[in-house]
Amino acid sequence: MKILVTGGCGYIGSHTVVELLNNNYEVVIIDNLSNSKKEVIDNIKRITGKDVTFYEGNVQDKSLLDKIFKENKIYAVIHFAGFKAVGESVREPLKYYENNLDSTLYLLEKMKEYGCKNFIFSSSATVYGKPDKLPIKEDFPLSTTNPYGTTKLMIEGILKDVYNADKLNITILRYFNPIGAHESGLLGENPNDIPNNLMPYIVKVATGELECLSVFGNDYDTHDGTGVRDYIHVVDLAKGHIKALEHIGGLHYYNLGTGNGYSVLDIVNTFSKVNNVKVNYKITDRRPGDIDACYADSSLAFKELGWKATKGLEEMCKDSYNYVIKNK
Ligand code: NAD
Ligand code: UD1
Repeated sequence: MKILVTGGCGYIGSHTVVELLNNNYEVVIIDNLSNSKKEVIDNIKRITGKDVTFYEGNVQDKSLLDKIFKENKIYAVIHFAGFKAVGESVREPLKYYENNLDSTLYLLEKMKEYGCKNFIFSSSATVYGKPDKLPIKEDFPLSTTNPYGTTKLMIEGILKDVYNADKLNITILRYFNPIGAHESGLLGENPNDIPNNLMPYIVKVATGELECLSVFGNDYDTHDGTGVRDYIHVVDLAKGHIKALEHIGGLHYYNLGTGNGYSVLDIVNTFSKVNNVKVNYKITDRRPGDIDACYADSSLAFKELGWKATKGLEEMCKDSYNYVIKNK
């Protein structure tokens, strides 16, 4: 079976492609390399010993989509391509609405035209806004606090309408906080700019590239006052997509998280311990818009897909560091 993976050179997409190939799917990738590098394709081949078909280009290019659907009988589309930086989305909302929404609309249009019936979408825990209670279940109220999050919520709405009209099979996966990297050290995440997210920032402090981590607030209502999140190993997350594909049919929403909440200081301390490296940090003001705590109830994914995260925090911290050390 051939799977079209949009954004397959990116952080989560590349790990998912490896799992697809290991499960004997054939993979076609479209990626414009706006936030990734072509060498990812070679690394995927090195890890799996298998080939992928790669189209370099934009998902908003309808003629390229025509070419892809004509040249390949696509069984399902897994749609990762999009922009994801929250801060940038506040400064440049139109860039986010255009890329994230248009890419999805054009893909859905072409799937309809070529009779492709199965769609898996990368959504985010950000669609739960500021949850009233924890752990978060799929039927909790939805809201957003920034344009990036709004693109995800709008796309979820579009997908519901398309499901009602066209009876596509649609699975919406809401990711919590993916960290970690492939154990080979060949795939992972290491942004060029100053990172917005916690783990890439910690790694850059550990390697000496950045001086000191700012811990955004220690007066939250959590066990040590610092923000609590549900960190999930990217390989566990990737495996969730295989399970989603195996069970595709109808319209479904699943939280992909571990169900564990770890604080910023839990992460810093575990990272230092398992990698035997010091991480300088200082406590600073809260980051506007942050919430005390956010973690998933992922029992629905276990019940219906048989999926459960298996990798612990120590492995996540080790693999995140290993990737950057190996690719310095
Ligand atoms: P990423 O930036 O590493 O990967 C996205 C890939 O899509 C990149 O390779 C980029 O070059 C490509 N791309 C972007 N726009 C494109 C376009 N118009 N045409 C073709 N290629 C395009 O991001 P990621 O962390 O792998 O995230 C993948 C998806 O998961 C995104 O939709 C993101 O919003 C969602 N998500 C990510 C997180 C996270 O913390 N990483 C959390 C929740 C949801
Ligand atoms: C981010 C995204 C969110 C997305 C989620 C999952 C932002 C504002 N939100 O949220 O849309 O759904 O990832 O991928 O980017 N922290 C520090 N110092 C830092 C960086 C972070 O103390 O330099 C703290 C934060 O205050 C938070 C925790 O670390 O408590 C995690 O932050 P981050 O990695 O940015 O993830 P989220 O805030 O969960």
